[in-house]
This record gives sequence, structure tokens and C-alpha cells, in this order.
Amino acid sequence: MKKFTSTLLLIGSLFLLDVARADDTPLGEQMSAMNDAYKAMGKETDAAKGATLAREAQTAMLKSLEFKPEAFDKLFPDKAVAAKAMVEYRYMIGEAFVIFCKVEMAFLEGKPDDVKKLLAEAKDLKKAGHDKFMEE
Ligand code: HEM
Repeated sequence: MKKFTSTLLLIGSLFLLDVARADDTPLGEQMSAMNDAYKAMGKETDAAKGATLAREAQTAMLKSLEFKPEAFDKLFPDKAVAAKAMVEYRYMIGEAFVIFCKVEMAFLEGKPDDVKKLLAEAKDLKKAGHDKFMEE
């Protein structure tokens, strides 16, 4: 019983640690908000609710423009390279914003297949963004 309780406690604290890590930075907070909306959009069939979720994701992307990735200075120590990487960061966040505008339109036009395709595009963008701007 003791062993069972400590295992439960360990799992509980690992879970809490993970939650804390995801929201650790101002950018992480926006990413998490967008991620929640992203997951919910994938399951949403109601047009108005889907459109609201898409707007939540858009807002999180606009706010993400105010922040710099935490690992940025470490990943791009060279000034000239860093200047270009910062443009690329804003460009990709802008692309994500546009994708979520298209998702909103697809919900409003009752085009679930388009919603799915656009969410797959967002997934590819997530991979590219995380590969470039997050540490291993
Ligand atoms: C569009 C789909 C995207 C989703 C669903 C997504 C989701 C997330 C989530 C859940 C986190 C929290 C931390 C973690 O999982 O370790 C995160 C962090 C992060 N994301 Fe995204 N992301 C997306 C796109 C992007 C793009 C396009 C970029 C860059 C242009 C980006 C850059 C980052 C960075 C740098 C962090 C770490 C937080 C920090 O440095 O403060 N993400 N993302």
C-alpha cells in the first residue's frame, strides 16, 4: 500500500512538473493556449464553436510576436544570423496566424475537410518552428 501511494505521488509530481514546464515562459504560455485550441478544433463539428477556437489560436499567435524564444540567444550567438533568424521566427508565427484565419473561414463555410487539411499544415509548421527555435 505504501509503495502504491508513493508511486501515485511520483506520477503526480511528474505530471505537475510537465505542466509547469510547458507554461514556463511567456511564449510557452501562448503556445499552450494555442495548443489547447488546436486540439479542440480537431474534434469540433459546430461551426460557431470552431470559429471561436480558431480566433483563440489567432490571438495566441499575435501575442507570441511580442516574445523571443527562450533558447534564441544560445541558438543564434552571431548577430547577423540572429537578425535573420528573428525575421524567420516572426514570419513563421505570421504563417500560423494566417492558417488559423483560414481554419476559421473553413468552419464558417462548413468545410470540415479543409479544416483537417489546414490543421495538418499547422502541425508541419509546428515541427519546423520547434526544430529551428527550441533546444533539443
Ligand atoms: C502551429 C502549431 C504549433 C503548436 C500546436 C505549438 C505548440 C507548442 C507547445 C504546446 C509548446 C509548449 C512547450 C512544449 O511542448 O515543450 C510550444 C513551445 C514553443 N513553441 Fe510552439 N507550437 C506551434 C508552432 C510554433 C511555431 C510556428 C514556432 C516558431 C516560429 C514555435 C515556437 C515555439 C517555441 C520557441 C517554444 C518554446 C517556448 C519558449 O521558447 O519560450 N511554435 N509550442
